[in-house]
Amino acid sequence: MFKEKPILIKITHSDAELLKRFAWFQQQPGCNWTTTRGGEEEVPDLTITRRGVFLTNGVNHLSFHPSMALIRLINLLRGGTDRYLEATQLQPGDSLIDATLGLGTDALIGAWAVGERGSVLGIEQSPILAAFVSDGLNHFSEIPQNVKNKDKQAAWNALTRASKHIVVRWGEHREYLKQIPSRSVDVVYLDPMFRRTCRQSDSMLPLHLWSDHNPLDQEAVLEACRVARKRVILKERKNSSEFRRLGFDILLGGQYSPVDYGVISI
Ligand SMILES: C[S@@+](CC[C@H](N)C(=O)[O-])C[C@H]1O[C@@H](n2cnc3c(N)ncnc32)[C@H](O)[C@@H]1O
Repeated sequence: MFKEKPILIKITHSDAELLKRFAWFQQQPGCNWTTTRGGEEEVPDLTITRRGVFLTNGVNHLSFHPSMALIRLINLLRGGTDRYLEATQLQPGDSLIDATLGLGTDALIGAWAVGERGSVLGIEQSPILAAFVSDGLNHFSEIPQNVKNKDKQAAWNALTRASKHIVVRWGEHREYLKQIPSRSVDVVYLDPMFRRTCRQSDSMLPLHLWSDHNPLDQEAVLEACRVARKRVILKERKNSSEFRRLGFDILLGGQYSPVDYGVISI
């Protein structure tokens, strides 16, 4: 499905930097880019501008921004806890496969936790999302001038470093995992889309449009268990029957949270 849909890509100015970015996008695997749709509404799916790259769904635009990762990291740097890190138990030097990369928020927190000696591989089934997030991570460097808060600056700098350690791959995770040797990665993380309702904030609508909503399949979980050395983690709706169906033990915590984390310890 993702391979066949033509994706309208536009560039707002012919600057050298924007042209370079445009050429980079056109080389990304799986994306069926087009520069003209020929229809009445010529709203691009992806627009490369001087202010960044935007993914569009009608009137809603999404740009790569580490907003949620930033809030979580500020909290962590102040000594707070993070349920994802409690579940994954990632340590400096660990290797992580985030098999449902999405917008890369969890992968960024994971990359911060494993540090420079660790590694993070993000697998994303949607080619446009894989390309969009990969580009966002590649260009994630400058602290915006309006960021004056010291905690925010520290978190932003830490995320900038973390972003350099995430390798993004377009692919279907079950097939991708099949190519990875057994017991070669510390943690495999799965955060599928399908439990999410349509009550998304407008800014997340492009993610909804471009992502894969299928439930996890059992074989993908078996592959994750073969590849992982320590644990496989699943994030799902609170009390979801998916935990039982796929063989995960629900971890305690998050009494007031709409999600649970499940674990298969290896
Ligand atoms: C809920 S989002 C993940 C959000 C992510 N944890 C984050 O922090 O941004 C789920 C993502 O997994 C992707 N996905 C779903 N099934 C997949 C599969 N079989 N292989 C790879 N990616 C998949 C979807 O396209 C979607 O982008």
